[in-house]
Amino acid sequence: MAARSASLTIAAMNTSTSSSSTPSGAGAAAPLLPPQLPPQLPPQLPRIAVLATGGTIAGAAADVTNTSGYQAGVVGVDQLLSVVPALSTVARIAPEQIASVDSKDMAMALWTTLAQRINTLLADADIDGVVITHGTDTLEETAYLLHLTVKSDKPVVLTAAMRPASALSADGPLNLLNAVTVAAHAGSRGQGVLVAFNNKIHSARDVVKTSTYAVDAFHSPEIGALGWVQDGRVEFQRCVVRPHTLATEFVIGAKWPHVEIVASYAGVSRIAVDALVAVGVRGIVVAGTGNGSIHASLQQALADAASQGVVVVRSSRVGSGHVMRNGAAADDALGFVSAGSLNPYKARVLLMLALAAGGTGPVALQKIFDTY
Ligand code: SIN
Repeated sequence: MAARSASLTIAAMNTSTSSSSTPSGAGAAAPLLPPQLPPQLPPQLPRIAVLATGGTIAGAAADVTNTSGYQAGVVGVDQLLSVVPALSTVARIAPEQIASVDSKDMAMALWTTLAQRINTLLADADIDGVVITHGTDTLEETAYLLHLTVKSDKPVVLTAAMRPASALSADGPLNLLNAVTVAAHAGSRGQGVLVAFNNKIHSARDVVKTSTYAVDAFHSPEIGALGWVQDGRVEFQRCVVRPHTLATEFVIGAKWPHVEIVASYAGVSRIAVDALVAVGVRGIVVAGTGNGSIHASLQQALADAASQGVVVVRSSRVGSGHVMRNGAAADDALGFVSAGSLNPYKARVLLMLALAAGGTGPVALQKIFDTY
């Protein structure tokens, strides 16, 4: 608009100059032409890669009223995008089908493939951000893994759906539009990996799935969401303080140290821990009761495991809150590590990465858990 009125002004000045003071015919001065203004190109929309991995967002049932008995991961990325024409007003989309899995079957080899592909894409100056469509069931694990291993400050946003693509009021299309909107937003840069779900924006470190069926299925217990996205508007209300992405020592590789999770509950035996030690497990995360407290028989088995060099991380099955070091168990004496505010599943992700990076011993590993 400003350029257009400038050229109109110049044209008006030239008209009055030529009519009042320039005689026509040979020897007359050449008419003063307006300077050539650069063409006004529309600003380019950000280029966002959308990587599909499967999940309910790509699920289909025979009946539109069916929201629980369906097959996950059967709708391709092009079809997912085709039902959201508004995406073309937000970003230039570069789609890729990375996998078509129900995320309960997520495997470490697929994590390696996904993280390496994201790092390759984000190293390309032509890509401004990445959105990953994923199943809800293990989304919090994949998100935290990427939060620690993506080597870029460009936005990376995961999204998903609780209702299959075939359902009445499917939530996937709007979640996808919102995720691309967040990925295209300048304020998302440097925030680590984000999860856009049901109009909320969460940090990958904090977010957990909290409902088996509700469309409001993701929350960041105690801490709350980072912000929100609605009708094309993105607003952040807090930022991430723990190091992530470029600021971690973790790199994605193909080797995954063997780490398992056991739970403490009434009457639990030591059989599972002894079996894991017998097969050479490198680490065990215990989902303790309360503030990470552990049944006496299980605790003895874990202490025996720790004395043989197995890393034992104490977390809680409660779902929110911190596990205080030397609180409900004598970590220093037992050689255990406290997971802090990480749930058992995220603690396992961090322990695998820490061990793969060469971390050893409860003191050094506790530092890693206190940092990330
Ligand atoms: C999955 O996690 O792949 C299935 C469940 C879902 O996406 O909600």
